[in-house]
Amino acid sequence: MRILITGAGGQLGLELKDLLAGGHEVVPLTHRELDIADAPAVERALQEYAPDLTINAAAYTDVDGCEAEPGLAYRANALGPRNLAQFCERRGCELLQVSTNYVFDGEKEEPYEPFDPPNPISVYGKTKLAGEEYVKHLSTRWYVVRSAGVYGEGHNFVRTMLKAAARGEELKVKNDEFISPTYARDLAAGVSEVVESGLYGVYHVTNAGSCSWYEFAREVFDLAGIEVEVKPVASSEYPRPAARPANGLVYSPYGPKMRHWRVALNDYLKDEAIVETAGLENE
Ligand SMILES: NC(=O)c1ccc[n+]([C@@H]2O[C@H](COP(=O)([O-])OP(=O)(O)OC[C@H]3O[C@@H](n4cnc5c(N)ncnc54)[C@H](OP(=O)(O)O)[C@@H]3O)[C@@H](O)[C@H]2O)c1
Repeated sequence: MRILITGAGGQLGLELKDLLAGGHEVVPLTHRELDIADAPAVERALQEYAPDLTINAAAYTDVDGCEAEPGLAYRANALGPRNLAQFCERRGCELLQVSTNYVFDGEKEEPYEPFDPPNPISVYGKTKLAGEEYVKHLSTRWYVVRSAGVYGEGHNFVRTMLKAAARGEELKVKNDEFISPTYARDLAAGVSEVVESGLYGVYHVTNAGSCSWYEFAREVFDLAGIEVEVKPVASSEYPRPAARPANGLVYSPYGPKMRHWRVALNDYLKDEAIVETAGLENE
């Protein structure tokens, strides 16, 4: 299968490129090589490479930045998927759109299932939902894979915490917002599994288990063997431009089953040469 990956320089894009190159012909295009919001450029790329499947890993993912620049957010997160959906459909190409748990408002008590009604509370969430809707309405061979708290080769929460600790900053982290942190490498494997299944539809793909952002930060330092104080705070004490769902947990009764987030985090820190071993192999 020939697979075109957009946003190939991002955390997920990089992992997808490495993973899929094993069994497929992969065309990885970075933001510089293809701006998905540029409709003629998308049309040309699909003509030139004639992929069987396009995986859209491109997005404007700075959640607070989206509040400041809603036009840019809409361009990348909504118009980009619209362009891909239109031209993929025209060429008979499958499309996998990567999306987010931030399409939900976080008011539900239980983890969100794929067909719970979305109700985004941030510009990022709204534009990502618009992207999903374009894909669902403008194409017929689509997958939507929603994930959460992704970290990998790039700018992410784990690195932000480690850098802040290295600078000796006081660390205050929210203890009333919950997620399932997800290693980009595991998400890439989940995406690959979805695609191999050939079963179109909406999926929730995260590492198993859940925690607050505070617990996530605590685990990063414990696994990395870094002694540092982290203060748990309420989100009301830590105002940010974008609202985040308090319950950011998603669940799928079908689709890929992923390993526990702690085991994945331990591997990530080892891959980053931040930790030697933390004995989580049996968890
Ligand atoms: N990160 C998370 O915590 C998280 C959580 C849930 C879901 N997701 C979703 O997972 C997917 C992958 O996220 P990620 O963590 O890999 O994000 P990422 O590291 O920020 O990568 C996104 C990539 O998209 C590129 N991009 C931005 N606008 C573009 C455009 N108009 N055309 C082409 N490329 C563009 C970016 O390039 P530049 O950097 O050069 O702009 C970047 O390389 C996204 O759909 C995201 O919404 C992420």
